Amino acid sequence: MIIAVDGPTASGKGTIAKALAAHFGLPHLDTGLLYRAVGRQVQLNGGDPESSVDALAACDFPAALLEDENLRSEEVGGFASRVSVHPAVRRALYERQRAFATQAGGAVLDGRDIGTVIAPEAEVKLFVTASVAERARRRWLEMTGRGIDVALAEIERDIAARDARDMGRKDAPLIAAPDALVLDTTCFSRDGAIEAAIEAVLARVG
Ligand code: C5P
Repeated sequence: MIIAVDGPTASGKGTIAKALAAHFGLPHLDTGLLYRAVGRQVQLNGGDPESSVDALAACDFPAALLEDENLRSEEVGGFASRVSVHPAVRRALYERQRAFATQAGGAVLDGRDIGTVIAPEAEVKLFVTASVAERARRRWLEMTGRGIDVALAEIERDIAARDARDMGRKDAPLIAAPDALVLDTTCFSRDGAIEAAIEAVLARVG
């Protein structure tokens, strides 16, 4: 069984995808991490994320970079969003994601285009979303909890900009697949959202 979990930044899709993988005993791939690694490699190379040549060169990032703590930062998230606009970057990362999705026994992948491009045949597609204000609040709580001093309004601006870029790009824009189940987690607790996702999967596959 392939489970595709797509949605905007800080919607809770990563938490939900991990929980689904644990519940159904499936391997999980956070595809955002691949784009973050490319963004971080551009940064390390001193390149320009808007340049498709610099971004494509960064797709050769070493495997160890996926363990880099900096990948989770907002700054690298912004770089990831910029490099992910280039079709050449998306092509370069396609096979790796496709191989993960089609492995024997199935898999859970989370990202932006899993249900539309990487695994359109997925048995279950969830599109996890929440209001910008709620996503900003969650990200702010998480960051301040880690001791990072940041203004809520700044996070809200960054999230709105990232949404606009992810939804507005020509190649594989962030959009719910027509057969995806939309899960709005704005009013859900973490556990409530996980429970709703598990129920949604069971309703789809029986
Ligand atoms: O999910 P995460 O915030 O880690 O993703 C970082 C960025 O990588 C996103 O803003 C998006 O631009 C890009 N991305 C993508 N396609 C995916 C996963 C992530 O374009 N499947």
